[in-house]
Amino acid sequence: MHVLVIFAHPSRGSFTGQVAEAFCQGLHTAGHTVEFADLYQEGFNPTMEAAQFDLETSMDPQSPRPGDVQAEQARLDRAEGLVFVYPFWWSDVPAILKGWFDRVWTYGYAYAYEADRSRTSQLRVQKALALCLAGHTDEKLEALGLRDAHYRILVEDRLLGVGIPEAHLEIMGGLSGNLPERRTELLLRARSLGQAF
Ligand SMILES: Cc1cc2nc3c(=O)[nH]c(=O)nc-3n(C[C@H](O)[C@H](O)[C@H](O)COP(=O)(O)O)c2cc1C
Repeated sequence: MHVLVIFAHPSRGSFTGQVAEAFCQGLHTAGHTVEFADLYQEGFNPTMEAAQFDLETSMDPQSPRPGDVQAEQARLDRAEGLVFVYPFWWSDVPAILKGWFDRVWTYGYAYAYEADRSRTSQLRVQKALALCLAGHTDEKLEALGLRDAHYRILVEDRLLGVGIPEAHLEIMGGLSGNLPERRTELLLRARSLGQAF
């Protein structure tokens, strides 16, 4: 499978970067091909400017989108698998990734309304995974309802909701403080998730 990995962290040397690398190693081991998209390093602009906003709200699926959005959609068109690797910031994805959804999930591409109000999508991705690294422990995220909230918004709305047939969320929590054993365990987990993708 060809897998597009969207990486949304300012530092490749961070633990999130190490997890992304371990995950990609697992993908390679399993024989998948990988396209790695580092949103910060590439300078992706997450801001919905007025010109694109006018296009989105005109609900015209044919109107051409900005070049950078078309480039993101072109690499999505090449991918059967889609993976996001990011830190949990204020109980959500980092702003650069939220802006990626705002701008790349365009009307006419990620969704469109038919005459009977049903939704259709041009996305060809078959399987998606969100790999989220968090400071809180898994237990605390569960108890606060934050895992469920993130699942609903990210997986149910932004992934399954645009017609991707299979989507999963893996939260790797408990990363506050320097816990070498936890980190080693999670790097192994990331590699095996890549291998099993
Ligand atoms: C701006 C910012 C906001 C954060 N917000 C949360 C949060 O809401 N919940 C949480 O569990 N962890 C939060 N964290 C902790 C990160 O999710 C955690 O450190 C994660 O493991 C990132 O790893 P890395 O930056 O070392 O790669 C936050 C960290 C930062 C820098």
